[in-house]
Amino acid sequence: MQREHVYERPGRSESRRRRRQRQFYRILAAIWLMAFVLGLLCGKLVFAKETGLLARAGAEPAAEESENDRVQAAEHDSGTADNLDGEESAGDWKLTLVNATHPMAEGYRPRVSEIENNYYFDSRAVGELQQMLADGRKQGLDFWICSAYRTIEKQTDLYNNKVSRLQAEGLSYEEAYRQAGTVVAYPGTSEHNLGLAADIVAKDYQLLDDKQAETPEAKWLEENCWRYGFILRYPTDKTGETGIIFEPWHYRYVGKEAAREIMEQGICLEEYLGEK
Ligand code: DAL
Ligand code: ZN
Repeated sequence: MQREHVYERPGRSESRRRRRQRQFYRILAAIWLMAFVLGLLCGKLVFAKETGLLARAGAEPAAEESENDRVQAAEHDSGTADNLDGEESAGDWKLTLVNATHPMAEGYRPRVSEIENNYYFDSRAVGELQQMLADGRKQGLDFWICSAYRTIEKQTDLYNNKVSRLQAEGLSYEEAYRQAGTVVAYPGTSEHNLGLAADIVAKDYQLLDDKQAETPEAKWLEENCWRYGFILRYPTDKTGETGIIFEPWHYRYVGKEAAREIMEQGICLEEYLGEK
């Protein structure tokens, strides 16, 4: 009996020890799982922050408005964006007028697809843009896309930067704010936000100034863009109508029929649509 008693006591303490051990492992596993999930979340945040910084760092200082929208735009390539909802899809989406007096429908986000080099465009027209670039390149032209789809946040950054630069040149805030709008559209009033505009320059002349118009790339685009459904959106003689400076790099998709009529008649989108 005594022996049994003697052997019984270590047995109980052994099972207590094992229970504690199991409990310890369970706690360890829970801590490990929590750390893993936390690590994943932090990693995602850090990645998002870093890529945001990269997007800004990629800006080309030589160009007034050139920038790298890659990372932000990539978020919209997931197929979750709602470009088939809202006002833009109600009428002819290709002819949506967006300017200082015609802001985009609130909350509208186009579904976009990659053109090249992580620049994005409305998925319904990206093929025509790629075809235009490919055909020009076959003829020896060297195009370079320096902007395409932009988020509202990106447009806000560009607009604010422009205002600051103009203020640094000595303009009052009010005047800087007004003048900025003739170069960078106010957020929500840009065709880049719509996903239907791309800024295309010559690879060996990446400045966004009037001389861009003299490059063989710009000349070819102006002559041939309509074949692919594109128009030169801000011509030199239409600044009064568009409210935007001459931009020989900014191409807007409107569809082939409208593009042919607009380019043939030498009018701007506001005139074509009978609006201002
Ligand atoms: N530079 C053109 C007007 C834009 O920001 O959409
Ligand atoms: Zn543009």
